[in-house]
Amino acid sequence: MTEKLKFIAPGSQEETRFEKLHLVVYPSPEKAAIEIAQSIAQLIEKRKKENRNCVLGLATGNSPLNVYRELVRLHKQEGLSFKNVVAFNLDEYFPISKENSQSYVHFMHSNLFDHIDIDKSNIHIPRGDIDQGKILDYCNWYENQIKKAGGIDLQLLGIGQTGHIGFNEPGSHLNSRTRLIRLDYLTRRDAAKAFEGVENVPRRAITMGVRTILDARCIYIMAWGNNKAKIVRRAVEESETEFVSASFLQEHHNTTFIVDQEAASELTRIKTPWVVKQVDWTEEKIMHAVTWLCTKANKSILKLTDEDYNQNSLSELISLHGPSYDLNIRMFNKLQRTITGWPGGKPHVDDTYRPERSSPAPKRAIIFSPHPDDDVISMGGTFDRLVSQGNQVHIAYQTSGSVAVSDEDAVRFLEVSQDMDANGNPQEIQGLVEGIKRKQLSDEQFRRVLKLKGSIRKRESLGATRYFGLPDDQVHFLNLPFYETGKIIKNPVSQLDIDIVVNLIERIKPHQIFAAGDLTDPHGTHRVCLNIIFDALKILKPRPFIKDCWVWLYRGAWEEWETHEIDMAVPMSPDQILRKRKAIFYHETQKDGVMFQGNDDREFWVRAEDRNRETANRYRFLGLPDYAAMEAFRRYHF
Ligand code: F6R
Repeated sequence: MTEKLKFIAPGSQEETRFEKLHLVVYPSPEKAAIEIAQSIAQLIEKRKKENRNCVLGLATGNSPLNVYRELVRLHKQEGLSFKNVVAFNLDEYFPISKENSQSYVHFMHSNLFDHIDIDKSNIHIPRGDIDQGKILDYCNWYENQIKKAGGIDLQLLGIGQTGHIGFNEPGSHLNSRTRLIRLDYLTRRDAAKAFEGVENVPRRAITMGVRTILDARCIYIMAWGNNKAKIVRRAVEESETEFVSASFLQEHHNTTFIVDQEAASELTRIKTPWVVKQVDWTEEKIMHAVTWLCTKANKSILKLTDEDYNQNSLSELISLHGPSYDLNIRMFNKLQRTITGWPGGKPHVDDTYRPERSSPAPKRAIIFSPHPDDDVISMGGTFDRLVSQGNQVHIAYQTSGSVAVSDEDAVRFLEVSQDMDANGNPQEIQGLVEGIKRKQLSDEQFRRVLKLKGSIRKRESLGATRYFGLPDDQVHFLNLPFYETGKIIKNPVSQLDIDIVVNLIERIKPHQIFAAGDLTDPHGTHRVCLNIIFDALKILKPRPFIKDCWVWLYRGAWEEWETHEIDMAVPMSPDQILRKRKAIFYHETQKDGVMFQGNDDREFWVRAEDRNRETANRYRFLGLPDYAAMEAFRRYHF
């Protein structure tokens, strides 16, 4: 039998005492995937030696992608054979044809089966094209096939936002078996991007049941990124419930939950480690504990008492760093010193307690923006201040953002150009308009439309940067090649992507770099763009100018740094909030029900304002000055 994975630092018994499932935290999804793939490879080899088949239960989605990549590599480069593998997939949308590029049949073939030597007759994926009347018999047949194969040796799982495993949505019974189910709205919204709109996502699916999954001899369940953190904690630390089917894994004696640090961030041992273990009290940890205690005790920092600390698992902190009077003042001052109206540093003043250096002044800054609008959404107020305070600001849009422009918008712009350009090629434009409407574009036409969409976003961006007074030659459209597939699935990052960023940094020799430190979605464009910047900085590290370059990370549109993570907070007046709003409005195609809204129905400008107001409110709650809004940054030391 395959053992529970041990991996790195599974956590002591004391610190995991809230966890009802064996859980291991990995530094990155990539590293975890390599170990998972190796463990699968060992099992395949072991079974081969025993002259037996290895029965694998497989999942689709983002979570297992790196595992499949590593398995393909093991096959191609290290000769791992899959001849003795029998595979059963968890689920499939219903109804859907095998040919549909969103089907799980397509996913499994393009990400794994087409690249390994598995016997095609050993592949089983629930059929999304079966007659509705035959589904019951078909599901029984699927269950029997698993039994006939000897049961599943190792089952891979991801976890959905609803806590589903397979497509066992809330309400699924512990003893459920393979069946047709109705997909939860949240699940469909998560899939909306791939289907280009939630209305195109099938409403039902065929899925293995909870009991089918629990029958597997060994289970690995994976979760990556912040947006899985809450549901991971729910499944692992709270009691079993049919409202979160992953919690039923607590019944299984050989399950390992494998997560990265972001997906682990809501677990008690990470979020409030002082509750479960002795803590190594760094300044950031102390700030974390103090701000947490403020919420718990509903008090501002300077009102906390020794008793508050002692009654809330923080007696050790107070005995090492107390009394509360001193500790409170120290943390209050520290937080106060994160606030500055001079994000580029205030010239000619003592900067001992300021987040940025006063010299050189003015500074050269590059603001990297993954898509053409993250700059203004996430740090529009700071951008505005940097420019108006005389710094030389460069904006670098890393990707064209073309896939986020709707076909309707593309048609609108084509028709405008048709109206304007009597001498151009009206037939060509008409061809494009009709092709878009009929959803039938040739490859060449597809490329033309993509270029148009990229150009629309470019012009919108220039509207915003000009509004903030930036000359056009300080705006750089990098169009990184990894993004330019025109599809949701992007190309792997290449040296060319990194070189483009290296060259820009080298040319400008900035004193400040601002980048989107977004770790929410491990496969998302923001994370990829951030890693490209990190790789570029690694290459540039030996260059002398880099020593004077400070890197500030802002968070993307979805969430903000926690208070203890903030190194610089830039306040905004009500007027500055309005200027930021106006800059966001220039990105017209991203307004009013944008294509990739995510799980939040608010428009970007509303989200940005709510978030900046919340940060300011949080500072006020902790006893600091009362600002209308604040943008927050974390310094990255490389
Ligand atoms: C996929 C499946 C689902 C996914 C889950 C997480 O076959 O059954 O349970 O594992 O929705 O999806 P990702 O990995 O895309 O976040």
